[in-house]
Amino acid sequence: MGISFDPENRLFFIETANTVMCLAVTDEEGFLGNVYYGKKVPKENLRYLLRTSLNPFVPSVNDRDRGCYLDKAPFEFPSDGAGDYRKPAVILRDARGCDASLFTYASHRIYEGKEELSQTARDGAVIKMPGTFAGSCTAHTLEIKLEDKALRLSAYLSYSVFDDSDAILKNVKLVNDSEETVTIEKIMSSSIDLDCSAFDGKYPDMITLSGSWARERRIDRRTLSRGVSEVSSSRGESSHQFHPFFALCEPGADDSHGKVYAQTIVWSGNFECGAAIDQFDSVRAYIGTGSRHFSWDLRPGTSFQTPEAVLVFADGGFDSMSHVFHDLFRSHLIRSPYLHRERPILINNWEATYFDFDTDKLLAIASDARDRGIEMLVMDDGWFGNRNDDNSSLGDWTVNETKLQGGIERLSDELKKTGMKFGIWFEPEMISPDSDLYRAHPDWAIAVSGRRPCRMRNQYVLDITRKEVRDYVFGCLAAVLDKADISYVKWDMNRPLSDLGSAELPAESMGRLSYLYTLGVYDLQERLLERYPELLLENCSGGGARYDAGMLYYSPQIWCSDDTDAIERLSIQAGTEMIYPLSTMGAHVSTCPNHITGRNVPFDVRAAVAMSGTFGYELDITAIPEEERAAIPEQTSIYRQVSETVREGDYYRIARAAETGYYDSWMSVSRDRSRALFTYIQCRAYPGGGSRIVKLKGLDPEKKYTLTPVGYDTPGSRFCSREKKEMWEKTDPGTVSGSVLMNAGVPVPYMHGDYGQLMLDIREA
Ligand code: DGJ
Repeated sequence: MGISFDPENRLFFIETANTVMCLAVTDEEGFLGNVYYGKKVPKENLRYLLRTSLNPFVPSVNDRDRGCYLDKAPFEFPSDGAGDYRKPAVILRDARGCDASLFTYASHRIYEGKEELSQTARDGAVIKMPGTFAGSCTAHTLEIKLEDKALRLSAYLSYSVFDDSDAILKNVKLVNDSEETVTIEKIMSSSIDLDCSAFDGKYPDMITLSGSWARERRIDRRTLSRGVSEVSSSRGESSHQFHPFFALCEPGADDSHGKVYAQTIVWSGNFECGAAIDQFDSVRAYIGTGSRHFSWDLRPGTSFQTPEAVLVFADGGFDSMSHVFHDLFRSHLIRSPYLHRERPILINNWEATYFDFDTDKLLAIASDARDRGIEMLVMDDGWFGNRNDDNSSLGDWTVNETKLQGGIERLSDELKKTGMKFGIWFEPEMISPDSDLYRAHPDWAIAVSGRRPCRMRNQYVLDITRKEVRDYVFGCLAAVLDKADISYVKWDMNRPLSDLGSAELPAESMGRLSYLYTLGVYDLQERLLERYPELLLENCSGGGARYDAGMLYYSPQIWCSDDTDAIERLSIQAGTEMIYPLSTMGAHVSTCPNHITGRNVPFDVRAAVAMSGTFGYELDITAIPEEERAAIPEQTSIYRQVSETVREGDYYRIARAAETGYYDSWMSVSRDRSRALFTYIQCRAYPGGGSRIVKLKGLDPEKKYTLTPVGYDTPGSRFCSREKKEMWEKTDPGTVSGSVLMNAGVPVPYMHGDYGQLMLDIREA
């Protein structure tokens, strides 16, 4: 494992436990090519894969047809305008207005460790960027310096690996060594040239996650052909619509089998990712911030840093890919002290009251909740300014004392007396046109002068690229957080960016705005966590529009979707879980009929679905039916019993509702394979159906296990009804080996009606 250089053959090997990437440098001109990425192979001389002595030959052999080589070679940092007509990783426009560039090898260094990424923003502020870190294990980094001699630009390509991970982390830093400004029109974090041979000679399938508000991250699968297949966001957030992730896999790959090449990016703004298959069936797979709403005037002596890309190759289907992402994020990205802690079970008042609440109402909810095992009240939108609906007051972060009689201090004190923790909602990046802040500083909104900006949810976006605006926002946050005992902040962002103009950026730098905006978000969240290191931060963006690896650097959990309908959540969570650990998914039980879909789902099914994330409630506990209220103590106690396995365990997907039509199922298995949680959700009646056999995953084939329906031992359990207990007694396989459970399966009893749940607590006997 680690990184090595073979000087004789000019080969770099970037190795993880099960994978290797091999880069090669051509002899004469020093083109850098990616000659192999995939399952681990010995570090032999793979130089022949550069095809320098095969048709179309390197330019040194066939200079009259340089283009043949440049348009075919497996370039690791492909540029534009100089003979490679495929998708470029970088587009540069020089001072003469020309856009040709071509990079070749200059030098490299290999070192132990991994450097933090940062970017100089406006006012010379250096902003730290989110990125993976070594943590308790060792990191190794290869930095290759490429240069375009004509432009006098250097590109530093960095590759890092950790001892305990199969992921490869990549980023690019561009440095202008010349005396003239060069404009970066596009620069990607990673581009690798594979070949259809990586997919056994076939065109790969591509997996992406797409959706909309209340329908985020559903899994899409398509078979690629020649041309470009891409997903992107130009909204200034990673977005509800598409997700900064894609996986290329063998056409037959499924959850348990097949080769998968996946990529994501540690970034929360615009992105572009996908694959381009060219005339020779080579596959260029790329990810980065893309070219929409972006140009960066790279002045002499300055540098530009891309975000970090995460590359994963897995040979055991999607589950094995998910394991690499989940483990990487848990061990090397999420910094929160809450990462391995049991998270407080919270109750959020959004769906309970919307804007219509006061201290008494919140305290009534809190006291009822506390009696039922809930530990924290989160006060959502509407506690400040004149915010009685979503038309005003963003920016006026002063407590509305008509609603919160006695101020936030009283609410906090009263909650403390009852033993409840207190959390609060903010939307720090926004400004309402109807706000004192906007009346005082209209130029603080992102807008193009002379053009009325597009309103969304009747709000504008604050220009947090400006330090004075960030300082103001941070001052408001701190003023509230210092007044009361607040353990948790929900940081929301309810509209995308548009009308990209900043009152203080010169025209030639205006193309930086969207990128700088994302850096502004990072700067604010970093400051927040520095000042309040024990704060539990949950990111949110109108549900899950900014659920990405960048945000995980700051918050260990993210609100997954405004859609709290348990059946809709099956698909949303199945897509989210492909990349993100279950412990990062904010998932709440809400009231029925569901506010978004109007669907009625039994209370225990809603809880079973929410228990695969960070669990909470989002309802007026004082107004729900008594039988639901009475079920909450058992649910909160079950969550405490299972949460460690969900949070720390390995995730396995058994079935997806989107594919079966009738049921959805997944497992979390403890690292030592001694305990597992199996969840099965029926999402549609199965007329005429009997019991179903489902094969388990991830267990130790040699170990013996017992299976108990969750709630089975609780007298009068509402989670495991008498009927369910009786059915289970007839089908309980007793003590059986992991081998039997994984190969022969377990019976899931027939459930009458549309919806049902079976959660099995599986323990080593
Ligand atoms: C969108 C969030 O996703 C909701 O949970 C809620 O906080 C609202 N914003 C409040 O405006």
